[in-house]
Amino acid sequence: MSDDLKDKHGTTGHSWDGIEELNTPLPRWWLYTFYICIVWGIIYTILYPAWPLVNRATGGILGYSSRAELAEQVAEVENANAGINQRLAEAELTQISADPELNQFAVSAGASVFQTWCAQCHGSGAAGAKGYPNLLDDDWLWGGSIEDIHYTVSHGIRNEEDFDARYSQMPAFGADELLEDEQIDAVVNYVMSLSGTPQDPALVEEGAVVFEENCAACHGEQALGDREQGAPNLADAIWLYGGDYAAIRETVENARFGVMPAWANRLSEAQIRAVASYVHQLGGGE
Ligand code: HEC
Ligand code: HEC
Repeated sequence: MSDDLKDKHGTTGHSWDGIEELNTPLPRWWLYTFYICIVWGIIYTILYPAWPLVNRATGGILGYSSRAELAEQVAEVENANAGINQRLAEAELTQISADPELNQFAVSAGASVFQTWCAQCHGSGAAGAKGYPNLLDDDWLWGGSIEDIHYTVSHGIRNEEDFDARYSQMPAFGADELLEDEQIDAVVNYVMSLSGTPQDPALVEEGAVVFEENCAACHGEQALGDREQGAPNLADAIWLYGGDYAAIRETVENARFGVMPAWANRLSEAQIRAVASYVHQLGGGE
């Protein structure tokens, strides 16, 4: 311990085993910085929102609000895009991709709409998941033209709030006792054989008859699907619900009834067209 300092400031009187605590004052620069911070803090809490109250904070006399600032910035961007949004909302759907400027705007705006509203079901890369269709391939339940996609997104699928929603109606052949157990077994074998999985030929033959009588009306004679009814192609080895025996059997017994929200009431027409353009140009668009 330096005796100089001890002489200058004295001690606090604390002493442990002869080790004494000096009463050195805080450095001046530190102390002034501290006072400045307090003054700055007081001024800040007077000017800006600061102290939490029960359900909001004190407002501050400048009336600043980060919400209002954000709203202003959003409004600014919206104003800047108003012209092109209007052009997008009014263009012929099929002409959007022919206009490079409009198309570029639509696809990039569409990508952000997609990440916000669609990715939770269809995946952030749009590759889908079990029960949620992959939007990258050219296998479509309801059609992959820009008009079809626009319609699907606007009105949704099996959506009870929208009278124009697409409506799929595969019967539950097992649950509603429309087919016997053996018939279901046979038709599942037949369906599996269509995409090249070898099956017992006798079962396949029996299944073909069951298919013809019960399934072809929706899935088509060749099982290539029917977009009017949202009935998927069963001959392409692309499966929405899985292509193994158990998954197909589950579909035939209980049906699936995929549901998608309608977006016409939640998104603007320009946003719907943007996201439809984005999806259309992901790779499978027709
Ligand atoms: C709550 C989940 C959910 C959300 C959110 C959702 N979808 Fe879907 N979407 C589905 C399901 C399920 C289907 C398939 C329904 C069926 O079986 O017919 C589907 C089908 C589609 C189809 C038809 C695919 C085809 O093969 O014909 C398109 C296109 C589509 N969605 C686009 C979108 C877009 C764009 C958004 C965002 C604006 C979106 N979806 C948001 C669940 C969702
Ligand atoms: C009234 C129309 C209709 C009939 C009849 C029908 N289906 Fe379907 N099927 C659909 C629709 C629509 C879907 C799409 C799934 C959903 O959302 O319900 C589907 C889906 C499927 C799938 C799932 C495909 C996948 O990609 O995962 C299989 C398998 C299937 N059907 C087999 C059959 C078989 C076998 C029969 C006859 C026993 C049959 N369907 C009869 C309309 C029909």
